[in-house]
Amino acid sequence: MSLSFSPGPIGVFDSGYGGLTILSQIRKRLPQYDYLYLGDNARAPYGSRSFEVVYEFTLQAVRKLFEMGCQLVVLGCNTASAKALRTIQQRDLPFLDVNRRVLGVIRPTVESVGMLTKTRHIGILATEGTIKSESYPMEIKKLFPDVVVTGQACPMWVPLVENHEYDEPGADYFVRKSINKLLSLDSSIDTVILGCTHFPLLLPKIRQFLPAHITILPQGELVAASLENYLFRHPDMDARCTKGGTCRYYTTESTSKFSDSASIFMNQPLQASHIEL
Ligand code: DGL
Repeated sequence: MSLSFSPGPIGVFDSGYGGLTILSQIRKRLPQYDYLYLGDNARAPYGSRSFEVVYEFTLQAVRKLFEMGCQLVVLGCNTASAKALRTIQQRDLPFLDVNRRVLGVIRPTVESVGMLTKTRHIGILATEGTIKSESYPMEIKKLFPDVVVTGQACPMWVPLVENHEYDEPGADYFVRKSINKLLSLDSSIDTVILGCTHFPLLLPKIRQFLPAHITILPQGELVAASLENYLFRHPDMDARCTKGGTCRYYTTESTSKFSDSASIFMNQPLQASHIEL
């Protein structure tokens, strides 16, 4: 039987390094697939960029991953998922290739939230762009209309991680400040979503400053579980994904810079290739 498509690796895209926190959880859960990671490090961060720019950059990355043979692409970036996913799915995919798929991280993250909150009050900590997009409240309202959602932008948190300051005492001030702002907006919050790929690195500090009764959702694990479920429900797409257990890394920045910083996110040295979008 001849196939009308060539199976390929699963593409994982992020503005930079943060998507590695998503990729590592996906690989932990689904080690059998091949993966191709693309970080647009040269143009990161995306968090404070406009809708138009994030959409344009993300579409370029999706096209590139398709050209490289990916049949399925996961936008492992909250900002790209918030600002570009819907338009790419609805407007661009029918022209690019109706049989390929692009998935995001927001829907999988919120799917279980309604079961976890008892007070029905949820907090979102994310980049300015993700908060302004209102994507999290919109997705949560679709699934759990009774839940009250409050967002707080944490503009200093990504720079703290990118500058290797995330476990230094100076980070305490910014982490505490954003958490206090969130809780001053709604003191009934009992569940918090870390809606940014970088924030897992700040987890010890976030945990320290959030009251102990507040649950923090682990985004990477939720995205990985949702992808497994998606591939199980879509055997046609599963057949389009190669299974050799490999992972290749591409960056729009210099490869040595990527390797140095990426190791913080993966706890191991990574070799990347340079790519132009
Ligand atoms: N990856 C982005 C996110 O999850 C954070 C970094 C950025 O602002 O580009 O929102």
